[in-house]
Amino acid sequence: VREITLKVAGGGSRILIEAGLLSRLHEVLPRFESARGAVIVDGHLRRAAGRVVKELGEAGLVALPFVVPPGERSKSLSTAEKLLRGLARERLERASPVFAFGGGMVGDLAGFVASTYLRGVPFVQIPTTLLAQVDASIGGKTAVNLPEGKNLVGTFHQPRLVLTDPAVLETLPSRDYAGGLAEVVKYGVIADAELFAFIDRSLKAILGRDPRALEEVVYRCASIKAEVVQKDEREGGLRAILNYGHTVGHAIEAVGDFHRWHHGEAVALGMEAAAFIAMRLGLASVETLAAQNRLLKACGLPTRAAGLPRRDILRAMRHDKKVKNGRLRFVLPERIGRVRHGVEVEDEVVEAALRAVVSR
Ligand SMILES: NC(=O)c1ccc[n+]([C@@H]2O[C@H](COP(=O)([O-])OP(=O)(O)OC[C@H]3O[C@@H](n4cnc5c(N)ncnc54)[C@H](O)[C@@H]3O)[C@@H](O)[C@H]2O)c1
Ligand SMILES: [Zn+2]
Repeated sequence: VREITLKVAGGGSRILIEAGLLSRLHEVLPRFESARGAVIVDGHLRRAAGRVVKELGEAGLVALPFVVPPGERSKSLSTAEKLLRGLARERLERASPVFAFGGGMVGDLAGFVASTYLRGVPFVQIPTTLLAQVDASIGGKTAVNLPEGKNLVGTFHQPRLVLTDPAVLETLPSRDYAGGLAEVVKYGVIADAELFAFIDRSLKAILGRDPRALEEVVYRCASIKAEVVQKDEREGGLRAILNYGHTVGHAIEAVGDFHRWHHGEAVALGMEAAAFIAMRLGLASVETLAAQNRLLKACGLPTRAAGLPRRDILRAMRHDKKVKNGRLRFVLPERIGRVRHGVEVEDEVVEAALRAVVSR
């Protein structure tokens, strides 16, 4: 097992990563002070959840499954209320752990429930999408959406444990898988040139979802996320580098009403725009831009999107909570493996980047 420790004030997480880990959960699971807990499960994983419940049983924990319908719409206060009432009806206690078994949607929702039920019970993540394994399951942000916007309600609640098995990614739909790869490439660009080279070199294995190759990739990405969060849990500064590609990316998602583009696809386009801006400002070379472009494409991600309305994207960017004093701020690459954050960029330059990426 590969292990990462994330320490923050008031607790921390142990992150365990291994291909095949789910079939030997009972060996790695710590004893909890309560013999009963809950597993909140994404509806698409109902079958696999049976195995997880059984494994937990072998570790001495009676885990009650709560299945939620798949899809972002379940990340709501009303689903959270149903789950909280379910936990209360079952009389789960302060020491009863709540497990999330699913992608980022279930992770955010179950984390929110775990952090508010009885003012907080132990939380364990078992992430099943690439995005959740490299990003959402780590860092302790929980959330539900409001009709007014995504992630507007939430808490910080670190999972005690993150149990990551890259072998579960085998059944992930290909668009979700490619979307996760956008975040993987992101980690390479922001912090790890060696990871970037590894992805390049191991493309065939990674695209074939070889569990061993994925174990390496997930381990490296999770390590970067954990290190950044440990240095800056509440997003004072450094944590912003994780938003590389997300300023433009979020805006593209919003303009597409959140269904035209998957998150990862929009992030890929956003990374392209950011790299273009960096080149324009003389921060990055054209080779950096080209290397990123080539790898994103090889991962099956879009790097150009014809006919997206630039005006709307700019307007959506201005709505983003990260805008300060009216100037758009960006995370920009200097080279593969190194970025600068908080760079204010003139509208003209942003528009030129959008012209290059979303037109043509
Ligand atoms: N808390 C954080 O730090 C953080 C970070 C990034 C994203 N997020 C959140 O994560 C969510 C997106 O997460 P996501 O991309 O994992 O989406 P998701 O959880 O909705 O999962 C995507 C799809 O894959 C299915 N699925 C999940 N695992 C599967 C598997 N192993 N095999 C087959 N199908 C599977 C799900 O049913 C769903 O249809 C968003 O709500 C986002 O806000 C949170
Ligand atoms: Zn993202």
